[in-house]
Amino acid sequence: MLTKFVSLLWSLFMLTSCVAQHPCDIVPGTFDSWMQGATSIDVVVVGGGASGLSAMKQFQGGKRKVNSVVLLEAQDYLGGRVKTVRTSIEATGKTVLTEDGAEWVHGGRTTDLYRLAKKLNGLAPDTKTWNIFFNRNNGAKASPLGYNIRRNLMKQCETKKIITPYFQKPDKGFGQCFIDRFDQTYKKLKAPAAEKEAWYFYNEQMVNKDQGTDTWLNISARDALNFRGADQWDQWKNGYDTLINYITKSIENSKLKLNSPVCRIHWDNESTDRVLVVTKDGTSYLAKHVLITVSIGYLKEHRELFTPELPTTYTKLLEDVHLGVADKIQLGWDKPWWGNKYLDLTMIWTEKNLPAEQEWLYGIMEFLSIHQYPEMIQAFITGKYAKLMEDLPEETVKSDIMQLLNSVMSKTLQKKGLSAVPEPIFFRRTTWGLHEWSYGSYNSYVSPVGADNGLKTRQPLAKSVKNSYNKQVLIWGGEALSTTRYGAVDGAMAVGKTMAIKIKNLLA
Ligand SMILES: Cc1cc2nc3c(=O)[nH]c(=O)nc-3n(C[C@H](O)[C@H](O)[C@H](O)COP(=O)(O)OP(=O)(O)OC[C@H]3O[C@@H](n4cnc5c(N)ncnc54)[C@H](O)[C@@H]3O)c2cc1C
Ligand SMILES: *[C@@H]1O[C@H](CO)[C@@H](O)[C@H](O)[C@H]1NC(C)=O
Ligand SMILES: *[C@@H]1O[C@H](CO)[C@@H](O)[C@H](O)[C@H]1NC(C)=O
Repeated sequence: MLTKFVSLLWSLFMLTSCVAQHPCDIVPGTFDSWMQGATSIDVVVVGGGASGLSAMKQFQGGKRKVNSVVLLEAQDYLGGRVKTVRTSIEATGKTVLTEDGAEWVHGGRTTDLYRLAKKLNGLAPDTKTWNIFFNRNNGAKASPLGYNIRRNLMKQCETKKIITPYFQKPDKGFGQCFIDRFDQTYKKLKAPAAEKEAWYFYNEQMVNKDQGTDTWLNISARDALNFRGADQWDQWKNGYDTLINYITKSIENSKLKLNSPVCRIHWDNESTDRVLVVTKDGTSYLAKHVLITVSIGYLKEHRELFTPELPTTYTKLLEDVHLGVADKIQLGWDKPWWGNKYLDLTMIWTEKNLPAEQEWLYGIMEFLSIHQYPEMIQAFITGKYAKLMEDLPEETVKSDIMQLLNSVMSKTLQKKGLSAVPEPIFFRRTTWGLHEWSYGSYNSYVSPVGADNGLKTRQPLAKSVKNSYNKQVLIWGGEALSTTRYGAVDGAMAVGKTMAIKIKNLLA
């Protein structure tokens, strides 16, 4: 009887531990069998996000085409952190388009990305008109004067002359510039003293929203200044995956393998001067070069991917860079209930009296209508608040956010004769921090300590790794390697292209 019970417990344990298993925990085969069965190939690209796909496009086109190449993507779709979602809504019979990841074409109008979007006539016309609110979290009106401090401080702290003193060793962190200038700037704006603390908090959360950081001191001042490019707000009218589909069209289908997580990378073994790349099901490739475009978050989490371990010079660099967490919470109705236009609601926390289990809500600073749907709204949440949110069940997140909306919009509800915010017919939240193929969202940021350690640009991270045969076998890709456009789609694309050209040169 007892043994039966114990074995029941054991099988329960096995069952639950199986559920928690990573797809790469057990890969069929051995080094020798993988070597024997390996497909000989010039290049393996690991990861089918914007960076990996741009590299593939480069291999397939231009001078010196590279034909002997394959892209291995862990998930069942291409795009990675570009992920367009289409949901059909029962109540209205309509399909709505939302973005879990990238949403805007940032980076100015000279990037390949912008030119391509124009060429494809893919951008939505910007004809939105807004119902604008500045509210305190309890629903009272906030003074819009405080809002101006954000732009004002941003302008100051993104000026080279002002920010440079903050990255003399020790790098003080980007946020220190804001901290030092807040009081004086707030005074100049003649905004109400009663809201000062709330706008201070708002400013820090907005910097966190841009950077994905837990605190605005987490990102090096130098790294923040390296980031360049106008943040225009163009959107794809039919989803960001228009881009992914377009790039994919130019790549031979058989060269793109979905559901193929790379589980082992034997990059330095005396039996070969090449790299042995093994996927989940034991399929293997023996490659001259491997282009690795997984997120920096994934790389930090899964060093065991590499045999032997990566050189300490490289793993040390990884200590100095982090992938931030930013999530989206989206709600939709059949029509806007706050007015008849797009919603632009800025909120500040003048009363911080949430119970501990709802403290994640402090990360919410604004609600904005999205895409071509005035009736669909979205809030960003970042850093530690996003991580708290991700740990909660979806139902709790939904009811907490509804409670917040009811409070912050209480005056408008009264005016409209509504007793409460109507029940949404669409709800979605992302969990990028927990995402097993991403471990974060944006930005990949260098810590102040990292900058002091010498990570002044992303160049050291982009340095390829040689094996004992002195071959550059591991080539790094992905958004994190762009010094000026890290954390963005255009940056990821540019890095992919650059690295593909580098590999073409190595193969020549
Ligand atoms: C919420 C959010 C909002 C954003 N907003 C914007 C925006 O508005 N504008 C903008 O420009 N950028 C935005 N970004 C950033 C942008 O999405 C990314 O910088 C860019 O898409 C990164 O591309 P990548 O190819 O470097 O990485 P990824 O897209 O992460 O691609 C890496 C790929 O590698 C795969 N992979 C991981 N491990 C393995 C493995 N072991 N084997 C095989 N494959 C593996 C992953 O599944 C993934 O597909 C946003 C990101 C998020 C998350
Ligand atoms: C961010 O800053 C906080 C406070 O200084 C610190 O405790 C934390 O470790 C930092 N996080 C990262 C990822 O550097
Ligand atoms: C090469 O692979 C074999 C088989 O797995 C292993 O025994 C040996 O230690 C490896 N050598 C190196 C340098 O990793």
